Amino acid sequence: MTIGIIGAGAMGAGIAQVLAGAGHPVRLLDQSADALARATAGIAANWQRLSEKDKLSTADVAAATARLHPTSALADLADCGLVLEAVVEDLAVKQALFRQVEGVVSADCWLASNTSSLSLTAIAAACQWPARFLGIHFFNPAPLMRLVEVVPAAQTRPGLADEARALVASWGKLPVLAQDTPGFIVNRVARPYYGESLRILEEGMADMATIDWALTTRGGFRMGPFALMDFIGHDVNYRVTEAIWTAFYYDPRYRPSLTQKRLLDAGYLGRKTGRGFYDYAPGAPVPAPIEDNDLADNIVRRVVAMLINEAAEALLLGVATRDDLETAMTTGVNYPKGLLAWADELGPTAVLATLDELFADYHEERYRASPLLRRMARASQRFF
Ligand code: NAI
Repeated sequence: MTIGIIGAGAMGAGIAQVLAGAGHPVRLLDQSADALARATAGIAANWQRLSEKDKLSTADVAAATARLHPTSALADLADCGLVLEAVVEDLAVKQALFRQVEGVVSADCWLASNTSSLSLTAIAAACQWPARFLGIHFFNPAPLMRLVEVVPAAQTRPGLADEARALVASWGKLPVLAQDTPGFIVNRVARPYYGESLRILEEGMADMATIDWALTTRGGFRMGPFALMDFIGHDVNYRVTEAIWTAFYYDPRYRPSLTQKRLLDAGYLGRKTGRGFYDYAPGAPVPAPIEDNDLADNIVRRVVAMLINEAAEALLLGVATRDDLETAMTTGVNYPKGLLAWADELGPTAVLATLDELFADYHEERYRASPLLRRMARASQRFF
């Protein structure tokens, strides 16, 4: 099947590399000739590196290169079986683009968007035949991240999501099925990792180095939340939080942090600008954590309880199955274990007690326990 990819930025280029590598003839389209040139040079350099490490043969590289066709003409997508867009995150731009694409492709061509934060149902609403449209959401960098969220819109025909899931699996990726709700699985369920850590910092319970140290050494997370936000960039991370908060009608569980907003306003975007929460200038002092075990346990207990609560609520609301939720968090953001398995390990009663304690302290909706977590706690007590 020939696949068209529109947008040759960070995501489109990575996706083109995956698909051409998986054997599909790929038409990579961008309105900017510079973006296309950068993307093809970047993909060639990645393949070259893989071949030097003996992960790809020179014949494989030559074959994949021959399958990749950069173009600036929409008409070149006419024979595609799937067109996937990864252009700017703007609803009007994506809607206009799909209207144009439908004018050149055949009636049975699938249409997909890589959007992270827009409603797929809203994008599909602009299509003439929205039944063939759905979300196929890769993670950055697409060639390295195995997880892909497959997200049917309200208009998607029954069966298409399963067919898309099988196609994604044939690319060597790990597909999960997510409901078309803000943040899908990963971007929604991961919010408390940042939000609760920011709260802990703002309230002076611990400094950032201590929170990062606690969550990595005691929580088993690969990167601490402050180092991770600096890595992602505060422009991206803050805007995802803000988009999810807005889309959930300002649910306080997702409320963004003024501390992070201040970094964004200052242009301290993280590693890419040399300064975020941490200072990345050569020779800048590295803040040391306070290695206090009780404090570390409290930080981990609070952040993990909030994450588990978010996963329980997502399961309750049918955002994804339990298996897909666990797969998404362990492979999409490399959590040390699935959050629902983590709830079982800690005991749902203990997790619920942490949330109820926070709710009693704050009287904020942010700390309301998911009814599913309450049911899990009751069921575990009945067991004894
Ligand atoms: P980017 O800014 O790196 O690339 C976007 C590209 O689209 C640019 O090369 C631009 O020239 C091109 N473009 C814009 N409008 C176009 C049009 N009408 N026709 C043809 N080309 C057009 O953006 P990035 O980061 O690759 O993101 C693309 C999409 O992927 C967005 O929807 C974003 O939300 C989503 N996404 C981004 C992730 C990330 O970490 N960067 C992760 C997962 C999804």
